[in-house]
Amino acid sequence: MAIFVDSADPDDARRAQALGFVGAVTTNPSLVAKVGRPALELLHELLEIFDGPVFYQVTAETLAGRADQAWEAYRVAPQRVVVKIPAATENLPLAKELAAAGMMTCVTAVCSAAQAYLAAQVQARYVAPYVNRLTRQLGDGVAVVRDMAAILRGTQTEILAASLKSVSEAEAALLAGAQHITVPLDLIVAMGEHEFSRQAIAEFDAAVRSMVEPAR
Ligand code: G3P
Repeated sequence: MAIFVDSADPDDARRAQALGFVGAVTTNPSLVAKVGRPALELLHELLEIFDGPVFYQVTAETLAGRADQAWEAYRVAPQRVVVKIPAATENLPLAKELAAAGMMTCVTAVCSAAQAYLAAQVQARYVAPYVNRLTRQLGDGVAVVRDMAAILRGTQTEILAASLKSVSEAEAALLAGAQHITVPLDLIVAMGEHEFSRQAIAEFDAAVRSMVEPAR
C-alpha cells in the first residue's frame, strides 16, 4: 500500500524525495506539458532526483511508435521505469508483450471493471482508474474502484487510484480497495494534517511552556 506523487515537475519530485515515504513519481502527458519540457528529458531528471520508480506514458500515434517509446524509456532505468499504456483494446497486445519482456506496466485511464479485468489478462502491474473524473462522468468513481477491486482479487494486478482531488476522496478510494494512490504533492501534505491534531499539538506545546523550570 503506497502513495505516489502525481507530477512531472522536478521540484515536486525533490519534495517527495525529501518526505522519504513517497513510493513513486507518476507522470502523464498533461503533467509533462505543464512543465513544458520533453518527456524523455524529464524522465532522466526525475530518475536522478527521485530514488524510486518513475511512471512514463507512451503517446506515439502508432502501436509500433508506442512500443519504441516504451523500450526507449525502459532502457533509461530498467528496474525503475513503469510504462503507462492508455486503456484501449489495441494497446493490450503491446501491454502483454512489454510485461512478458519483464517491464512493469500500468494500464492507465481505466474507466471500467471490464478494462481492469483485461489489464490483468495482459499482466499489468497496475491499473489506474481516474476516480474524480469518473465521478464527474459516470456519477461514482469510487464505486468503479470497488468493482475493480472485487474483480482483480487474487490477480497480480493492483489498483493505483488517480485523479483524486481531496483527502476524503483519497480515503474513499483506499477503502474501496485501491492498493495505491497517486496524488499531487499538495494533497500528500494535506493528508498529513488535521485541524484537531494541530489543536492537540498546540495544547502540548502550551503545557510544556507552562512548566516551571526546576531550580538548580
Ligand atoms: O495521473 C493523472 C490523473 O491523476 C488524472 O488527473 O486531474 O487530470 O483528472 P486529472
